[in-house]
Amino acid sequence: MSHFLSLLHTYTPTPPNTSGWQSPSCLSEVDLSKHGLNPNRLHTLGDRSFQNGEVAFLTVAGGLGTRLGFDGPKGLFPVTPVTRKVLFHVFSEKLRALQQRYGRTFHWLIMTGEETDKATREAFRKNRWYDEAYLHIFKQGTLPAFSTDKQPLLNEDGSIVCLPDGHGGVFKALKQADLLSLLETKGIQTLSYFQVDNPLVRLDDALFLGAHLHQKSEFSTKVVAKTHPEERVGLFVQDGDRLRLVEYSEFPPSLQAVRDKDGLLKYRWGNTAIHLLSTDFVRACAERTLPYHVCRKKIKVWDPITKTVQMTEGLKLEHFIFDALPQANNPLLWEVAREEEFSPVKNATGSDTPETCRRDQIRRWLRWLKAADPMWLEAQLKENPEPLLEISPLFADNKDDFLNAWKRLPEKPKTLHGCCL
Ligand code: UD1
Repeated sequence: MSHFLSLLHTYTPTPPNTSGWQSPSCLSEVDLSKHGLNPNRLHTLGDRSFQNGEVAFLTVAGGLGTRLGFDGPKGLFPVTPVTRKVLFHVFSEKLRALQQRYGRTFHWLIMTGEETDKATREAFRKNRWYDEAYLHIFKQGTLPAFSTDKQPLLNEDGSIVCLPDGHGGVFKALKQADLLSLLETKGIQTLSYFQVDNPLVRLDDALFLGAHLHQKSEFSTKVVAKTHPEERVGLFVQDGDRLRLVEYSEFPPSLQAVRDKDGLLKYRWGNTAIHLLSTDFVRACAERTLPYHVCRKKIKVWDPITKTVQMTEGLKLEHFIFDALPQANNPLLWEVAREEEFSPVKNATGSDTPETCRRDQIRRWLRWLKAADPMWLEAQLKENPEPLLEISPLFADNKDDFLNAWKRLPEKPKTLHGCCL
């Protein structure tokens, strides 16, 4: 406790030293040949790694859906437009599709928090979304919480209020749950990491995996170009010879809108929080302590005077996974099309809402349909210009697979509106 108290007392949120910052370089599928890289070779490299079972999946799901106004683990939020599948169900279908493709089941690690663990386990047990032998639900650690005048906050029984230690707690939590040894025993070399909030995430991306392996990267991230200076995404910066991610809340406002000579935002590579991590790196991180971030948050505490639980403004300590990035060798940033891979559900209103996410899912499927069968789609859209539809990852989870799956359909759906494939 004294360690945390002295940490809080010496903690002053100093603005980052930006003098050595540059815009980082970033690869994408379209400019591989410019860098002398052969996409087919990279794809084969990734494909082989999937085939050999060298990849496991890791979802961080310690957060509640509070900002969504949803009283439960975010993974249980219904997200698809027609059948209202919840996020965990969607991810499990993506992994089952991968299983069908490679003829093997992949290990899936899900990190929960104190508040999400029980409901998450129960939902998986009840719905049998994933083969239990390959599903590893484990709990993240906690850190003590403090009042704004830096006193420990107390529960009714006099114990100190402890809150989830942030997704950066994942390294130690994996070790604690003995999952690092599982990864080692199973010969897993890469952890495919994703947040619980993005149903567009691609888990089958052999090209990205191939590029990560080819570069011998220890920490690769899919990035999207920021839409506007104020967008709430973490931003990558090249800081001397190290790559860093600066969270949106800590990014210097004076640099937010700076443009380069082409008129593009100089710091534009936004964090999708879709990472590939080498398991050797994960093991090394489990032995280090990441920096602490101090966040102000409404916290439940026991008020001994009124003898009730009250919400009070307090200080919460958190680790962020991306603070490990500067230690990583050969990190890779990989640009992807936002509309194909990134539409998180975060807020009840404004940006990244259930509504924008539903819209983005439908638009993506309409683009695939347009590529597969433009005449049929046109006729359908004449009937109903705003169709509600849903395509399961078990049918196809990317455009190329969709084109093939559509060709194989014995007959086309009678109508697009309400259609589920
Ligand atoms: C996060 C990233 C941001 C990125 C954006 C993309 C952080 C600090 N920032 O922002 O850089 O651009 O996503 O969508 O992560 N979680 C835990 N345990 C915790 C805290 C969080 O498992 O103790 C999980 C949540 O369940 C969620 C993820 O981490 O899956 C992200 O947390 P969230 O608070 O939603 O981060 P954002 O502010 O949205």
